[in-house]
Amino acid sequence: MLKTYQIAVIPGDGTGPEVVAEGVKVLRTVAEKSQFNLNFINYPLGGDHYRATGELLSDDTLKSLAKMDAIFLGAIGHPDVKPGVLEKGILLNLRFHFDQYINLRPVKLYEGVYTPLKDKQPADIDFVVVRENTEGLYTGAGGCLKRGTPDEVAVQESINTRKGVERCIRFAFDYCRKRNKAKKLTLCGKTNVLTYAFDLWERTFREVANEYPDIKADYAHVDAISMWMVKNPEWFDVIVTDNMFGDIITDLAAMIQGGMGIAAGGNINPEGLSMFEPIGGSAPKYTGLQVINPIAAVSAAQIMLETLGEAEAASWIERGVIKVLRDDIKDVAAGKMGYSTSEVGDLIVSYIRNNC
Ligand code: IPM
Ligand code: MN
Repeated sequence: MLKTYQIAVIPGDGTGPEVVAEGVKVLRTVAEKSQFNLNFINYPLGGDHYRATGELLSDDTLKSLAKMDAIFLGAIGHPDVKPGVLEKGILLNLRFHFDQYINLRPVKLYEGVYTPLKDKQPADIDFVVVRENTEGLYTGAGGCLKRGTPDEVAVQESINTRKGVERCIRFAFDYCRKRNKAKKLTLCGKTNVLTYAFDLWERTFREVANEYPDIKADYAHVDAISMWMVKNPEWFDVIVTDNMFGDIITDLAAMIQGGMGIAAGGNINPEGLSMFEPIGGSAPKYTGLQVINPIAAVSAAQIMLETLGEAEAASWIERGVIKVLRDDIKDVAAGKMGYSTSEVGDLIVSYIRNNC
């Protein structure tokens, strides 16, 4: 009997459904050539669903999702829904509910892709950011007093637990070892100012590092990392950091690898249910136009298969992406590819069919 993975598909808002369709197309193609099946189950979550039904993410939906092997997400975000409602109610809710404590963001400049960094080649931009995904400034801890008055006070607290920090750091060391490149893990923090939170991070990092003598444990402040990511991206192999810093530096990283058409990530619970997404957002003004680059979604599908343990099928997806970026599409940006969204998916599919 072939193994069957149950994949929850949340196409979501805006251009999410268009790019997810290409990801699913590519996934079906590699599954056909592999010793596993993929069964896709659609979940109509997102802004339109919320406006029509009032549901963000019900208990029933969460129970149903809990039975899946992975979640493949398009984009969440709707121009007619107040900022924060869908993000908190769906995306962050899923991350927290399923304890997806790692946000994994591979950053790789592929051949044929434009980087705004002068004189940098694909060999110079190839690192991975491991972002803590359930704590820090994202927990919602804090509050306000006297809102709307001149005496208003707002407090938003960064929560860092030994357990949460340690499991993230351990994941990063393991990942760095498995990746087997420069074998260097850089902790991105701010120990010179955030002397409670990053004291915990740094002590935990040094302690865990003792168990990984083969990995070079390195530290840099987040502001310096931002500078070096532009000046010397080749210095990085794996970076580990907290939720907020990770959010910021991964957008910077997305730009140097070619932009939102390329950037993909995984929200990972190594012991549970993980969720994979292109990080570009819902791009409402492009909805239905078939101009968005589906490669970020296709790469998210690749990270999904890697996480599920299907390394060979994942490598076929990457080979397809490499080929199409190098030889076929003119530009990764929306509307400039020289092909439609679905044509780019077709190019990847036909390469995999004929060459893998
Ligand atoms: C990301 C996004 C989210 C975040 C938003 C949409 C809540 O920016 O995945 O990086 O801040 O984590
Ligand atoms: Mn972000």
